[in-house]
Amino acid sequence: MYILGLTTLGDSAATLIKDGVPVAAAEEERFSRRKHHAGFPFRAIEFCLDSAGIKLKDVEHVGHYWKPWILRHKAMQAVRSAFVSPAMFKARADRGVAQVGESYLGMFKHPKRLRDHFGPSDFKFHYLEHHQCHAASAFFISPFDSAAILTWDGTGEDTTTLFCRGKQNRIEVLKRIKLPHSLGQFYSAVTNYIGFDMFAGDEWKVMGLAAYGKPKYYDFFRERVLTTNGSGDFHLNYEVLDHHLAKHYQFPEAILKELGPARNRGEELSEHHWDIACSAQRALEDTAIYLVKQIKKMTGEENLCMAGGVAFNSVMNGRIFHETPFENFYVQPAAGDAGCSLGAALMVWHQKLGNPRNYVMKHAYWGPGFTNDECRAALDVAGLEYETLADEELLPKLAKMIADGAIVGWFNGRMEWGPRALGARSFLADPRRADMREILNQKVKLREWFRPLAPSMLEEHGQEVFGVEHHDPFMITVIAVADEYRSKIPAVVHVDGTARPQMVSKEANPRYWRLINEFKKLTGIPLLLNTSFNVQEPIVCSPQDAIATFNNASFDALVLENNLVLRTHVIPG
Ligand SMILES: [Fe+2]
Repeated sequence: MYILGLTTLGDSAATLIKDGVPVAAAEEERFSRRKHHAGFPFRAIEFCLDSAGIKLKDVEHVGHYWKPWILRHKAMQAVRSAFVSPAMFKARADRGVAQVGESYLGMFKHPKRLRDHFGPSDFKFHYLEHHQCHAASAFFISPFDSAAILTWDGTGEDTTTLFCRGKQNRIEVLKRIKLPHSLGQFYSAVTNYIGFDMFAGDEWKVMGLAAYGKPKYYDFFRERVLTTNGSGDFHLNYEVLDHHLAKHYQFPEAILKELGPARNRGEELSEHHWDIACSAQRALEDTAIYLVKQIKKMTGEENLCMAGGVAFNSVMNGRIFHETPFENFYVQPAAGDAGCSLGAALMVWHQKLGNPRNYVMKHAYWGPGFTNDECRAALDVAGLEYETLADEELLPKLAKMIADGAIVGWFNGRMEWGPRALGARSFLADPRRADMREILNQKVKLREWFRPLAPSMLEEHGQEVFGVEHHDPFMITVIAVADEYRSKIPAVVHVDGTARPQMVSKEANPRYWRLINEFKKLTGIPLLLNTSFNVQEPIVCSPQDAIATFNNASFDALVLENNLVLRTHVIPG
């Protein structure tokens, strides 16, 4: 039985599962080339159907990640905000009218939209709750028979945080926290306070910057903005920091008085901004740990699954993993809203239809893949010279080039699902070179100097590099690097001595594992610097995307499967 899952409001995506097992999953942005694509994911759906060699008529159920009729709570929030200030009411009301008109009501047309575009089909369409889809996306493909599940984001229909327990093929909702109390909205509002852009997904920048600051304003955030009480809830005081006003770069007097003027976009970043980022990050972490301890008490479970945009905060995850009493953790690679398409499909298969679990997600390679012939055809059209080499020759050669300082655009197998490059569409470089972070960030990726870069490493070497066993295939945890190892790999160690590794197994990505192993044979270092293969756009998807990036950016070599292009081999004209 084929089930299609859809995410359609932002970070749009489609997932196809067959008898409970993923066949294909991809974000629409990878095809449209628009970051965080909002709108119906036509091309992602087409890709999913093509991957399985089926038509829409073969799909029996479609799961949608949102219930568009849950509007009352948001409307009440808007009315309440009018008592605080007219500006707050306006920020909510404007957004609300636009959302209802264009987005929510439009969701009722999705079944027709599907049939109009992909042909007649008798599928049953299911509107499912957003946070339950997040929960399903994590638990049903986790290695656990039973687990506590915590999902947290900006907001779903009205819920921002959901506490669940999963047992076999069922998820039971235990508790929910609703708007305006939202960890995701707190962090997004801080993102705009520091002059970044929440709509561009700039929350990563706050986390990166936080490592450089001091928690000077921590008490202010914890006492006035994001507070906890004995009941296990948290409160976001929007009279001090309001997400809706922050969208328009407006901030209440209460926060301006405490932290000074918000940073304008483009204004130089100072220590003051680092300190705000650090304080807000610390406040988020401590609130999150408080909630994780609550769900431990509520469930007594040993395993924890997490999803929702907040679950991408890898520094927070590192602390949760090390400071809370759970034994085991699972976060799948598309933990944000794109992942809800997977969750929606799994909700239908398990929760609605009662089917048993039969699958654990151990890798992220669910996107499009291309043959050597397709890669060569694209290179020929682009007029690029290349040589085709078998892996036995290619992988040692690449390892040597990287060890000699080259930056390589590595295009290998099916594209990653989720925002992290995990060795399918990656820039690879030498982690031993301290200057490599600056070269990659500023000369290749044209982005801020402080953005951290991460290692992909042979999973067998966790103990050696971190001093503890660590198994994270999806790069969602920050962990301290062993003291004696830090100076060996300066390009991938953050200023505070931590790193965010991807542990690569022979099983999950044998070809990538072999490349890293070749680098280890040459240098003794069992890891490579890995960052996403893109420059100011979504991660490359097709050979054409990779070639366009090669032609417009400054890196040394492009590898499309077994075909190697060197920068010096560009044919002029
Ligand atoms: Fe979400």
